[in-house]
Amino acid sequence: MIREIREGLEGVVAASTRLSLVDGAAGRLVFAGYLAEEIAPRASFEEMAHLLWTGRLPSVAELETLTSALASRRRLPAATVLLMREAARHRTPAMDALRMAVSTLSLGRAENDQEDAWTLVAAFPAIIGGYWRLRQGLEPLDVRDDLSHAEHFLHQIFNVETSAGGVGRERARALETYLNTVSDHGFNASTFAARVIASTHSDLVSAITGAIGALKGPLHGGAPGPALEMVFEIGKPERAEAVILDKLKRGERLMGFGHRVYKVRDPRADILAAAAERFYTTEGDRELYQLALFVEKTALRLLAKERPGRPLHTNVEFYTALLLHGLGLPPELFTPTFAAGRVLGWSAHCLEQLHQGRLIRPESVYNGPTEQRFQALSQRAS
Ligand code: COA
Repeated sequence: MIREIREGLEGVVAASTRLSLVDGAAGRLVFAGYLAEEIAPRASFEEMAHLLWTGRLPSVAELETLTSALASRRRLPAATVLLMREAARHRTPAMDALRMAVSTLSLGRAENDQEDAWTLVAAFPAIIGGYWRLRQGLEPLDVRDDLSHAEHFLHQIFNVETSAGGVGRERARALETYLNTVSDHGFNASTFAARVIASTHSDLVSAITGAIGALKGPLHGGAPGPALEMVFEIGKPERAEAVILDKLKRGERLMGFGHRVYKVRDPRADILAAAAERFYTTEGDRELYQLALFVEKTALRLLAKERPGRPLHTNVEFYTALLLHGLGLPPELFTPTFAAGRVLGWSAHCLEQLHQGRLIRPESVYNGPTEQRFQALSQRAS
């Protein structure tokens, strides 16, 4: 029987979810009922976590409970820090270090779905910040429980006080908008990987360790670094046309453009573009920002000309790169920071899968031979 193969599972619906609606034709993203552009720039990350974990925004008392549940789970096991030190000694890429460190979060704890979700989300800033500091020859900082999740993320990397207001608060808001914007996105590859693992009734730490591996690849979460590199490589507006055209003629993909689901502009690009515009008005390298806008315009024009008939638009990664660079994050931390936002969606999907999902087990069509006969080793041609 010949069955239709949908390469890359494109267009295949594998489950239902209440977490996010990704409308690729209209360029619309909804988080549990709220348009992304409505909620991402306004809600705190903790509010977003409550929304995705429970299906509704929290009351004041619920937000307090959740905020302290997260803040009290920031400290890493000693063995996790030891592993991070060893990884830093080997100059292990940050995404690999994150994957290894996250897998140790089971240490000394009994499996518990909701506890695991809190612990995983709470621990990412300490792992990412602590690891980055170790890579710089600095010591990880003690965790703090008096900062918001986004403030704590910046504190763990830069040792800055962000709660004092002013510029610091603006930075934390920009990061929070970013984390909210990328917190969930339908059945993308890493979320699907997490759900497949959860569908076997495995635990959340295992599922999220697998998801980090899926996010690492350049076709998924690894694009913002190369997107920024392209802007730096171009350097001046007058070089944009030649550099981009050369890449396209050589058959290269432009990082930060194109999407499997969005056939129009990725709505997350607009949210992050607005956040970047706001950020670069007061801080950061305004000239670089203007150059990036010009690169985007040129890339879109040349993609339309060189790849006619392909709906290739700006995706979330292009503005991720700009915003995170503006916040002072090095390119190596772009994908880990993406993971710090997406771990919320991963955990919510795992809970949803555990409570209502069925074992995910698709089939494949075998296309190899079937008539081979076993030959003893001594009789096989060398
Ligand atoms: N630049 C140039 N051409 C691109 C392109 C890009 N960024 N993205 C896709 N294309 C072209 C492909 O070369 C292909 O052309 P072909 O049919 O002539 O070979 C066509 O568009 C379709 O590509 P395909 O790989 O089938 O689409 P997909 O749905 O599997 O890919 C992405 C989606 C995101 C993997 C792809 O657009 C991409 O690689 N983008 C760059 C990486 C990136 O920004 N990733 C972050 C995603 S949020």
